Amino acid sequence: MPVMMQIGKLTLDAPFFQAGLAGYSDAAMRLIARRHGAPYCVTEAMLDVFLLNGGKGLKAAELDDEDHPIAGQLMGSNPDEIAAGAKILVSLGYDVIDVNLACPVKKIRKKARGGHLMQEPADVVAILDAVRQAVPGDIPCSVKLRRGTDDTPEATQNFHHIFEAVIRLGYAAATVHGRTVEQKYLGPSRWEFLAGIVKQYGLDRPGAAGEARRFSLFGSGDIWCAADVFRMMKETGVHGVSVARGCIGNPWVFTQARAILAGDAEAATRPPTIAQQRAVLLEHFDLSMRLHGERAAGMMMRKFGIKFSRHHPEADRVAKAFIAVHSAQDWLRVLDDAYLGDGPGAATVTTPVADAPMNCEDDSCDAAATV
Ligand SMILES: Cc1cc2nc3c(=O)[nH]c(=O)nc-3n(C[C@H](O)[C@H](O)[C@H](O)COP(=O)(O)O)c2cc1C
Repeated sequence: MPVMMQIGKLTLDAPFFQAGLAGYSDAAMRLIARRHGAPYCVTEAMLDVFLLNGGKGLKAAELDDEDHPIAGQLMGSNPDEIAAGAKILVSLGYDVIDVNLACPVKKIRKKARGGHLMQEPADVVAILDAVRQAVPGDIPCSVKLRRGTDDTPEATQNFHHIFEAVIRLGYAAATVHGRTVEQKYLGPSRWEFLAGIVKQYGLDRPGAAGEARRFSLFGSGDIWCAADVFRMMKETGVHGVSVARGCIGNPWVFTQARAILAGDAEAATRPPTIAQQRAVLLEHFDLSMRLHGERAAGMMMRKFGIKFSRHHPEADRVAKAFIAVHSAQDWLRVLDDAYLGDGPGAATVTTPVADAPMNCEDDSCDAAATV
């Protein structure tokens, strides 16, 4: 099984990364993920027009020196605009430019974009071509897509039309989410679909897909714990795994995945202690406050607090306390009440949690692009 991951010229020392997560994967979450072992992160989807209009959208795309290597993810519907957005991301120092063909948020002002664009494969190919041409050849481009818009044979045909173009146009990698756009985030991610692509395009053989270069396929969907990363690789043959909902409030999933890579499977089942949780909760709030200011961090960190609380033996009580947070002082009060001492945490989280809405149906892709 691969222990490294390749994205064009980039070699990453582990075969997993932090996914783009609108409303969550800001620089604060990414730095926490990196400090726990994520070798690579993707931003949330940024609308090309928000970058082109400057102001807040552009400001949100600025990068910290520690936040590399990173993919800037773009979403749009017009080849010229998305290409111009890609050039802006290159000028801001992004290492990879990723095109989003996966977001299930409904059409805005009759414009299809994200996953909905997959219904228009010719438009998608024009967008992919424009982005690849706008980005300097030495900077890898990648794409995030769903296995289809729905379960019809036409949708699968569209997927393959797009996937072939991704390889032909010189993209370095693709992340395929094994759910349809129609499924949004519900129901199982179909890993068999990922295994099928690996076989069909000969991606289990180096230099396959008719290309001398190496094309990397990453899988997404239903990665809830470190063991899932390696199970997906084993069952599907993908070259790397995107960790999404499974890493919100759970950066230890990366430490545990690294432990598995190092042959220490026992460490991967060891939950974070209360002291370790406290340290990360302090660090994450501090990073968020520096990024957004205290008031916005207070709001933003509530939803992270709820997710982090799963590791606490009194999860329900602690989650309720996090919901009431408004300020840094409130945050500290929760930590002083529930996170003193060095007791063990709750058992390692290995299953989906249904305690809070976890999709971007509320248009958070747009909201995030403006934050
Ligand atoms: C709240 C939320 C926001 C998301 N935002 C993005 C995004 O901006 N870009 C992206 O590529 N995927 C986004 N996704 C999709 C995830 O990256 C991932 O593909 C999906 O959640 C499936 O993986 P999982 O079942 O392991 O969570 C989002 C998912 C959720 C739940």
